[in-house]
Amino acid sequence: MEGRAALVTGGSSGIGLAIARALGQDGYGLTVSARRPEKLEEAVEELRGEGLEVESVPANMAKEEEILALVERHRERWGRMDVLINNAGVGIGGEIAEHPTKRLDMQLDVNLRAVYITLRESIPMLKEAGAEHGKALVVNTSSIAGKFGQPWLAAYAATKAGVVGLSQAAHGELSSDGIQVTAFCPAFVATPMTDWTADSVPKEEMIQPEDIAEGVRFLLRTSPACIVPEIQFIRPGDLMRAT
Ligand SMILES: NC(=O)c1ccc[n+]([C@@H]2O[C@H](COP(=O)([O-])OP(=O)(O)OC[C@H]3O[C@@H](n4cnc5c(N)ncnc54)[C@H](OP(=O)(O)O)[C@@H]3O)[C@@H](O)[C@H]2O)c1
Repeated sequence: MEGRAALVTGGSSGIGLAIARALGQDGYGLTVSARRPEKLEEAVEELRGEGLEVESVPANMAKEEEILALVERHRERWGRMDVLINNAGVGIGGEIAEHPTKRLDMQLDVNLRAVYITLRESIPMLKEAGAEHGKALVVNTSSIAGKFGQPWLAAYAATKAGVVGLSQAAHGELSSDGIQVTAFCPAFVATPMTDWTADSVPKEEMIQPEDIAEGVRFLLRTSPACIVPEIQFIRPGDLMRAT
């Protein structure tokens, strides 16, 4: 998509990096952001080495001023936003009874508050893109834990359920402006986030980050009349449940 641009948060590894690569391969100019500058630079150099055009912006999504600066940097570099991938996230397990407020706050800030603020700040550019071609796209990375609360992941599940609710509300506000909003709800994906469980679920049996990136491609290839509010990505043997 020559002349179009995408902002990907949490793009230095895993799902975000796979989505950034797919969008770059499809011709989007990219702004890729993550928290740790060295890790981000490594990922961005990898993408540039593949011939992709990438603006690299380190930002801690727990800080509002860094989110505002990120969206502004994207606007200065590309002047437009056709795709927003709101993907930065952090998961910290633990029983509610033992879970310190600091960990709860971190997950709320990065997984939910940042998604809201990034979307809010991006709306003017998304509306311009929607008015131009009727198919601006926002993907908010939730989780299957956001659909079905799981023990030991209460804080994470609550933030991810919040992302589903936010996405539904945003669809109601933005779809008539040519902006589609989709919540992604994956089960285990083979990324650094699931290293802790690699002993019991081998990485090759997990969903691959590239599978999630194909979901973005699908959403961009359908007609403006086709809205997909949510995609659940589950593994063989995972239970399907009522939504
Ligand atoms: N892997 C799974 O099984 C799975 C399943 C469902 C949903 N998800 C969701 O998918 C998204 C991507 O996760 P992943 O699996 O690809 O994990 P990952 O490889 O660990 O990537 C997480 C990304 O988020 C960034 N990030 C974390 N905290 C941040 C902060 N405070 N500010 C800015 N960036 C921050 C990381 O950058 P740094 O490394 O620099 O912090 C990294 O780029 C997350 O929202 C996660 O909750 C993952």
